[in-house]
This record gives sequence, C-alpha cells and structure tokens, in this order.
Amino acid sequence: MSDFIPVNEPVIGEREKELVMECLNTGWISSEGPFVSQFEEAFSRRVGRNHGIACVNGTAALDIAVAALKLGPGDEVILPTFTIISCAAAIVRAGAIPVVVDADPHTWNMVPDQVAAAITPRTAAIMVVHIYGLPVDMDPILEIANRHGLAVIEDAAELIGGTYNSKPCGSFGTISTFSFYPNKHITTGEGGMVVTNDDALAERCRSLRNLCFLPNRRFVHEELGWNYRMTNLQAALGLGQLEQLDQFLSKKQWIGKKYNEHLSDCNEIRLPLINTSYAENIYWVFGFIIDESVPCNAATLISTLAKLGVGCRPFFYPMHKQPVLKDLGLFAHTSLPIAECLYERGLYIPSGLALREEQISHVSKMVRDAIGEFVS
Ligand SMILES: Cc1ncc(COP(=O)(O)O)c(C=O)c1O
Repeated sequence: MSDFIPVNEPVIGEREKELVMECLNTGWISSEGPFVSQFEEAFSRRVGRNHGIACVNGTAALDIAVAALKLGPGDEVILPTFTIISCAAAIVRAGAIPVVVDADPHTWNMVPDQVAAAITPRTAAIMVVHIYGLPVDMDPILEIANRHGLAVIEDAAELIGGTYNSKPCGSFGTISTFSFYPNKHITTGEGGMVVTNDDALAERCRSLRNLCFLPNRRFVHEELGWNYRMTNLQAALGLGQLEQLDQFLSKKQWIGKKYNEHLSDCNEIRLPLINTSYAENIYWVFGFIIDESVPCNAATLISTLAKLGVGCRPFFYPMHKQPVLKDLGLFAHTSLPIAECLYERGLYIPSGLALREEQISHVSKMVRDAIGEFVS
C-alpha cells in the first residue's frame, strides 16, 4: 500500500512553514492577524480585482457571493449541471431557483447558447463555473449577461492562475470565487476567497463573512451572516503558496504534457483538450473519458485502478440527478445527456503538484493495463 499513488498530494515549501511559524510564535492565529489582509491584497491583485475577501472555503465563498447579490425567492440562477454541489447548494440555500444547462463534450464547460436559451423573465444571475482546467467561453456569457442586465458569479475555484484571452480567471464576474482546498493550484488547507471590483459588494461580503455585526453597534444584527472568517494561519500558508503560483502552474502544465505524451495514442480514452482558441489547459486535474467502445464505465475502471495502486476520482455527478435536489421538486423532467455521459465515463487520475515523472509513467501504464482488462 506504501506504493499507492494518491489522486492528490500538495507541495508545502519552507516559505509557508516560516510564515506559519511566525503566526505561532507571535500568537496571531485568529482572523485578526495581519496575514489575512496581506493575502487578500496579494491575491486580488494577482486576479486583477480591487477587493479580496478571504473565507473558510470555496463553498462558503459561493454562499457569500449569492447572499451579497441578494439573490432569493423568485430569482432564477443559471448554472452548469456538471459541477460540484456547492454551486447549486448556495443558490438553493438562498431560496433562489437553480436552472441547469448541459456541458460541452470537449471542454466539459457550460455552453453559452444553452445559457441564452435558458433565460426567462425571472433570471437574475448566471453562475459560471470553470471546469477541470479550461475556462468557460466568457465573451458570449458576458454579452448575454449585459444584454439582460444579469449579475455574473464566476466560480474560478479550479482555475487559480488560469486565463481567458490572457485575462485572469476570476476577473470576469460581478463577483468571483475561489477555493484553496489542497487539490487546488494553491492551498491554505481549507480556504476560499471572494473577489470583486464593486466597493459596496465587497463591503457586504465582509459583513456577511463576519456575522453581519453592525459597524457601530456590535452584537446588533439587521441581517444574518456567517462566521466564515479565514485564520491568520491559513492566510500565512496562502501567502507562501501564492509566491509560487507560477511554478505550480508550470508544474501542472508539465504533468498534463507528460500524461499527453504517454496516453495520446491510447485509442480507448479521450484526453482533455490541450487548449482552445481562448485558453491553455492548466490541468487542475487530468481527466479523461472512456470511449464508448470499451465495455466498462468510470466506476469500474476506478476500482480496477485502485487495485493497481492508483488513486482516481469520478467526474461530477450532474446537479439535475442529485437526490437532494430532486427531493426538493427540482429537475423532474430534466435530461442533459452530455453531463450524464461525462459522469458515466469520465474520471481523473493522480494530478497533484507533488507528482513525479516516474509516477506519471507508472500511472499511464496502469491506465493502459486496466483498460486492457476490458478490451480483447
Ligand atoms: C468549482 C468548485 N467550486 C467550489 C468548490 C468548493 O470548494 P471547497 O471545497 O473549498 O468548499 C470546489 C471544490 O473543489 C470546486 O471544484
């Protein structure tokens, strides 16, 4: 079991340890410590936004974003069905209505034409989610949003450091969100960030993150918020990681290149796009789709690979199939075949920043061997 290659392993350097030790040595461990605002400033500058609001995780960042925009009962929010539950949960928790669209079979991202077709008089916002390493085609989405006067929430959790037409992911939304879970391009253990250029929205986000204390009358509340504050310890880790973001991006792209070299002639799987006309893939994870000709689904291949010592994960289970959302009466007659197929036949293999060349060769060989068990 010691040779097991996990699906993710982060890289934590000396700089992060030095900064975290500074928190421990000075006693500044809570959200009051100085690294939180330093991390917010450095991160929002990197993304090209005026404000950064650090919080406990990417799920909380979405809750804050939805609440800051005052989305609620009667409001429809369009989002991809092929995403993590955090996206739909934030909308549903606010009392708003999630409206899902299918994925593109090649980029795995939401399709602008389908977003346009899903607009109704009740649509209040579009939640864009960049998936697995390539961004959503933003120009047409922004054009639709402008035409209809809609807010855009841009969930860039998986594309820290990624760009769309050379502009940073996270710089497009009315409000944009990130996650710093250890499988992300930079990590704070658990953590997230909301970014925006809008002063009033930023102020609301800060308040929502901190229980909506009234500035002049502490312990008096006119609105319910959360304690979603990031600690100084997490921010210290984040600052150290952010200094290395460009190296981490190069490493992820190197991992993608190596997997492509090893697997591009494997006809039984469809590899992710290396680029599109507007972006380079930054391989948050290296996923692939099992070809229809192979009589096995992702779940079976994942358990075969686990026995061979390779940690894998299935692709997202579409939102329109989620029992918890269907129980709320949502998506009763919705069928979105691309996302359903992505879940059925898609998986990702070890893609973490600590991955070594020999591990990539080994994983690639195991992928071929595992698929070989199902084709004669
Ligand atoms: C697109 C996307 N949004 C939100 C999240 C939630 O982030 P967190 O795990 O930090 O709550 C994730 C987590 O992986 C994600 O991939």
